[in-house]
Amino acid sequence: MSPRKIIIDTDPGQDDAVAILLALASPELDVLGVTAVAGNVPLHLTERNARIVCELAGKPDTLVFAGCDTPLRRKLVTAEHVHGKTGLDGPQLPDPKMTLQDAHAVDFIIETLREEPSGTVTLCPLGPLTNIATAFQRAPDIVERVQEIVLMGGAYFQVGNITPAAEFNIYVDPDAAETVFKSGAPIVVMPLDVTHKALTTRARVEAFRDLGTEPGRMVAEWTDFFERFDKEKYGSEGAPLHDPCVIAYLLQPELFSGRHVNVEIETSSDLTLGMTVADWWGVTDRKANVTFIGDVDADGFFGLLTERIARL
Ligand code: RIB
Ligand code: CA
Repeated sequence: MSPRKIIIDTDPGQDDAVAILLALASPELDVLGVTAVAGNVPLHLTERNARIVCELAGKPDTLVFAGCDTPLRRKLVTAEHVHGKTGLDGPQLPDPKMTLQDAHAVDFIIETLREEPSGTVTLCPLGPLTNIATAFQRAPDIVERVQEIVLMGGAYFQVGNITPAAEFNIYVDPDAAETVFKSGAPIVVMPLDVTHKALTTRARVEAFRDLGTEPGRMVAEWTDFFERFDKEKYGSEGAPLHDPCVIAYLLQPELFSGRHVNVEIETSSDLTLGMTVADWWGVTDRKANVTFIGDVDADGFFGLLTERIARL
């Protein structure tokens, strides 16, 4: 079976970095490109971090593009308090040598979806949906050509992590999220409801370190840094590895379960801006538009992740 073609849209971020490593380590996937977006940290850092991670994976030929540096309509909100000043705080990392592609990420997304056979490219957004929404608004013809969108974002039972009501990726650009969720493209959502079940533990982090490889050490040190915020906030033993859930779903969907429901985005209320209003219990007649994932086999997830990182 030929590898599944994907575009990873990302705002690295330690958890994005682990997701990119997982994708680049997996022969089932053909990473056509990595498109950076402003989110955890500003764009000039997310594109730099994306290149650092591709080099760490031993894949310096990966095509990395810079995309949108601000949300569609709102001021950028970043998350240095979680990811550190560079967005990849934890281990010391060398500046990337591989070059950034000249084309804008949005142009790359549009051209790739127009050039590849329809229904053969999956979009994997791991950050705010600004690049994806901009591409859909600029070239509506590409929406029906998307095979599937598998994204990390939103929350229902877990409610918010950046505000009491909203998850960070959706909150940063709720207008972009509304465009994507209403696009009609087939969407699988990895909300906090499931990513908060993909929690690191000491044993799981040590398993990365014990690989004895540079990528294994990096994943352990990124997690050591990244998890301090969630442990303090939630009192949990470890931190949720949010973004790798997207890639793990592509590799082993049987690790996950969810429901096909209606999800709409709050784009105006100051109190609940960015909230993903999921009709999980089917109490409205609103049409289901996404598969909203609620559960994961955490041991299976970490087993897959460790085995794949070991290949780098
Ligand atoms: O809320 C978690 C999400 O926000 C993750 O994608 C993390 O990288 C940040 O972008
Ligand atoms: Ca992210």
